[in-house]
Amino acid sequence: MKRIAVIPGDGIGKEVIPQAVRVIEAAGADLALTHFDWGADRYLADKVTVPPDGFATLARDFDAILVGAFGDPRVPSNIHAKEILLGMRSKMDLYATVRPVRLLDASLCPLKGIEPKDIDFVVIRENTEGVYGDFGGVFKHGTPDEVAIQEDVNTRKGVERIIRYAFEYCASNRKVDGSARRRVLMCDKSNAMTHAGGLWQRVFKEVAAEYSQIETQHMYVDALAMQMVLDPRRFDVIVTNNMFGDIISDLGAGLQGGLGMAASGNLRPQKTSMFEPVHGSAPPLAGKNIANPFGAILSAAMMLAQLGMAGEAQKIEAAVLEAVRQKKTTADIGGTLGSREAGDWVAQKVSSR
Ligand SMILES: NC(=O)c1ccc[n+]([C@@H]2O[C@H](COP(=O)([O-])OP(=O)(O)OC[C@H]3O[C@@H](n4cnc5c(N)ncnc54)[C@H](O)[C@@H]3O)[C@@H](O)[C@H]2O)c1
Repeated sequence: MKRIAVIPGDGIGKEVIPQAVRVIEAAGADLALTHFDWGADRYLADKVTVPPDGFATLARDFDAILVGAFGDPRVPSNIHAKEILLGMRSKMDLYATVRPVRLLDASLCPLKGIEPKDIDFVVIRENTEGVYGDFGGVFKHGTPDEVAIQEDVNTRKGVERIIRYAFEYCASNRKVDGSARRRVLMCDKSNAMTHAGGLWQRVFKEVAAEYSQIETQHMYVDALAMQMVLDPRRFDVIVTNNMFGDIISDLGAGLQGGLGMAASGNLRPQKTSMFEPVHGSAPPLAGKNIANPFGAILSAAMMLAQLGMAGEAQKIEAAVLEAVRQKKTTADIGGTLGSREAGDWVAQKVSSR
């Protein structure tokens, strides 16, 4: 039995995660689920974002964590989101975000003439360093002479382990059609950001030399963004830093049907890892039963696959694919169902397989 911590969080997280939970239960996965109330409601009630032993408990007592989203207009500082989500990523050292960009059905892609076989790549994003480490400060705040500094921190250890993770991922994962993954592309902006970019370039070459069977490629992030739109067929495994990964992941979500369809894992190999839909708490959608639950459901399937339950994960992915094909979906991807009803449909499909 695998022990799962479930943290729906805020906004639509509280609507999509219950759907993901019933789908994994319908898949018959052997799981013990424990629910946590971390989020804006809890913070507003008792000012606790994460209980003192919170991250230690997650790391010690659970095999994986399923998360919704954090962010609530009643907490303008977003302090709870920062402490819970960024805290989990950094304190539990979840250094690799894995973002599959896979097109389930041609109707979901805004590009002309693109078929599901044309989009099946993965963005691997460094998740603990870069410009999101909150290093820096503000000098002469609010004056005409104000200076704001945001540092981009790249450690040799951090860069090397994410690049190595990308090569290992490429070597050990296949595309949906069963063919081997062949190429790791490193994306940076080393022409302008020479210090950090130089480190990434050197480490990429060094690590690549250990994987002679894997092709390598490099692109500047601006060129990559254009090519993702012009010809997404050319991508396989992309590795990049925290900020570029954040941005191109959302571009990838756009290619696969929008934020409601995008799944992710925040991984630390062999340790407790966290799985979450790419989208945020979407306050305008919250409480209306209209949020697409498929990103959360596909994130839960990723979690099961990571925990060694590949059969259950495949059942869930197949059911979501069928829901998309039959338009048993929420309105953002062309259906007429509510979040609960779309979750129902997928759960029933899964349990009948
Ligand atoms: N991982 C996270 O917890 C996370 C990620 C991003 C943003 N946020 C937070 O979420 C809040 C809202 O941020 P935002 O509006 O920039 O991003 P968002 O992802 O919450 O929503 C942006 C838009 O994308 C669409 N969308 C997102 N998820 C959808 C779904 N499941 N179904 C259908 N449409 C969907 C909606 O049109 C929505 O208005 C902020 O507080 C932000 O900080 C949290």
